[in-house]
Amino acid sequence: MPELPELPDFYQEQYARVNRAIDQWLPQPGKDPEKLVEGMRYAVLNGGKRLRGVLVLEAGKISGAKPAVVEGIAAAVELIHAYSLVHDDLPAMDDDDYRRGQPSVHKKYNEGLAILVGDALLTEAFGLLTRLFVKQRVSGGLEILSELTEAIGYAGLIGGQVLDLDGPISGDGLEELDQIHRWKTGALITVSLTAGARAGQVSDRLLQVLTKFGQSIGLAFQIKDDLLDVTADFATLGKQIGADEREDKLTYPRLLGIEKSQVRAEKLVETAVELLEETTAGGERLAALARFIIERDR
Ligand code: IPE
Ligand code: IPE
Ligand code: MG
Ligand code: MG
Ligand code: MG
Repeated sequence: MPELPELPDFYQEQYARVNRAIDQWLPQPGKDPEKLVEGMRYAVLNGGKRLRGVLVLEAGKISGAKPAVVEGIAAAVELIHAYSLVHDDLPAMDDDDYRRGQPSVHKKYNEGLAILVGDALLTEAFGLLTRLFVKQRVSGGLEILSELTEAIGYAGLIGGQVLDLDGPISGDGLEELDQIHRWKTGALITVSLTAGARAGQVSDRLLQVLTKFGQSIGLAFQIKDDLLDVTADFATLGKQIGADEREDKLTYPRLLGIEKSQVRAEKLVETAVELLEETTAGGERLAALARFIIERDR
């Protein structure tokens, strides 16, 4: 697994925990049907920053959740994220040949298998969560499942992807673009925090703070993703540069230009960090993750 050396120590540790949990919860190599299992493992275990998984662990740490429970939730969230990337890269969507520095799943295998790998990852994520919640008797399990399905459903990740496919619209488009970004990317990032927290003892107030924090960093995350598509290089980013322009996507740099987009992302992160001032222990680590979102180069 590639290292991410510029990150704070705690991120390194949590990153390794997320990777171990993913490996453990995925079907093991050699299981039938071998090709599908190989594709599923390829799609998830091919690098990735594991930010969503780390957010689950950090929120769970604040609410005192059991390690085994938050590790399972982190793995499920990363499986869902990976499914969304496998489908996002398909020719019918963004048509991207590379992901995390390697051929995308449909390039490595074929389109049919890539569609099914995505389907299988999404299904397994919910399979593992239900097994985990039953075994560990997680009292907030149903709330987590309900919130997670909402975040990635028609008025969440999938809805955002649909709007994203529709492409540029008339008018200045900023409100529409925010909506696309909040749905396609912000919702999963936000629910990573609330799901992690709900696995332990959590107050309504903390849930509110984490939700607002997640919404701010989630939007900042996608603005930064749009910026990297224009400013990064392939070797560092691991995906093709200029893909948004090629696909005629509505993006932040397209609407506002690079500088104003950067300012917007920075303001969102500042707002997010301010929200944490009233939370107890763990706030500094979430603040460091928020800053990482705009400082990252991949
Ligand atoms: C990329 O997400 C897709 C978006 C939602 C913008 P990440 O940048 O978190 O991808 P990995 O997991 O690190 O590869
Ligand atoms: C992806 O957004 C969002 C989801 C997969 C839900 P992008 O299409 O901008 O992500 P990249 O740039 O391909 O990683
Ligand atoms: Mg896309
Ligand atoms: Mg894409
Ligand atoms: Mg992008």
